[in-house]
Amino acid sequence: MKRRNILITGASSGLGKGMAIEFAKKGCNLALCARRLDRLEELKTELLSINPNCRIVISSLDVNDHNRVFEVFRQFRDELGQLDRVIVNAGMGKGASIGTGYFHANKQTAETNFVAAIAQAEAAMEIFRHQNFGHLVNISSISAVRGFRRAMTVYAATKAALTSLSEGIRIDVMHTPIKVSCIHPGFIRSEINETVEKVPFIVDTDTGCKALVKAIEKEKANSYAPSWPWAWLHWLLRVAPVGVVRQMS
Ligand SMILES: NC(=O)c1ccc[n+]([C@@H]2O[C@H](COP(=O)([O-])OP(=O)(O)OC[C@H]3O[C@@H](n4cnc5c(N)ncnc54)[C@H](OP(=O)(O)O)[C@@H]3O)[C@@H](O)[C@H]2O)c1
Repeated sequence: MKRRNILITGASSGLGKGMAIEFAKKGCNLALCARRLDRLEELKTELLSINPNCRIVISSLDVNDHNRVFEVFRQFRDELGQLDRVIVNAGMGKGASIGTGYFHANKQTAETNFVAAIAQAEAAMEIFRHQNFGHLVNISSISAVRGFRRAMTVYAATKAALTSLSEGIRIDVMHTPIKVSCIHPGFIRSEINETVEKVPFIVDTDTGCKALVKAIEKEKANSYAPSWPWAWLHWLLRVAPVGVVRQMS
């Protein structure tokens, strides 16, 4: 197997958990972190029942504690011997229209989705540069391609920044054995959108995570998952009139 040892942040629910299940089915060793350790312990038991041959290591981590990000990534590398792929997935979607009194929520989303993603990318790339191999995967969003209003304003901006960050890192290490991918999920049911009823083209967690893993394993620079309809729709979204974009949030 090409990438056997995989670290996933934000693995306690939703996409992180779903991707862990898919990679366990493929026989990967997994290093999983999030703040809710009890959820990770349950997931570890579930993964070992799916595939007892996998090595599963877990750690509690708040990605906004940047020093801990470096510590935990290095500890995982030491426990598994090497890291072949790191998936920067931890994220949140709290927020409200700018200027309506929710700076604290918008700031928390900005710090978790972008500043902490820089810390995770730094920690992963330090290890990959030392190993001279590895695959960095940043989980952005389809919302990275346009500006959105209301609760999605800062969220979409963080994802646009993450897509740009991914490209910058990729250019930095082009012509080396280190690969950098940015995945733009469409709408996949998880805790982040559990209270939102009408979401266009939403798929269940299993379907979404299978599509994510398929996209990750292709190791392309940029992917849209599930590929139907997002591999096509993102082009339309980029040129859609603002009136159409306004209807989407
Ligand atoms: N679902 C979608 O439709 C969709 C679409 C596009 C992009 N995404 C992206 O996919 C990623 C995963 O989201 P999801 O849909 O799976 O949502 P989710 O079910 O709410 O999961 C979010 C994960 O991130 C972790 N997390 C949040 N804040 C953290 C922090 N400060 N430190 C460490 N871990 C933290 C959470 O774990 P703890 O609470 O245990 O720490 C949880 O495991 C996010 O980056 C999101 O933006 C999702």
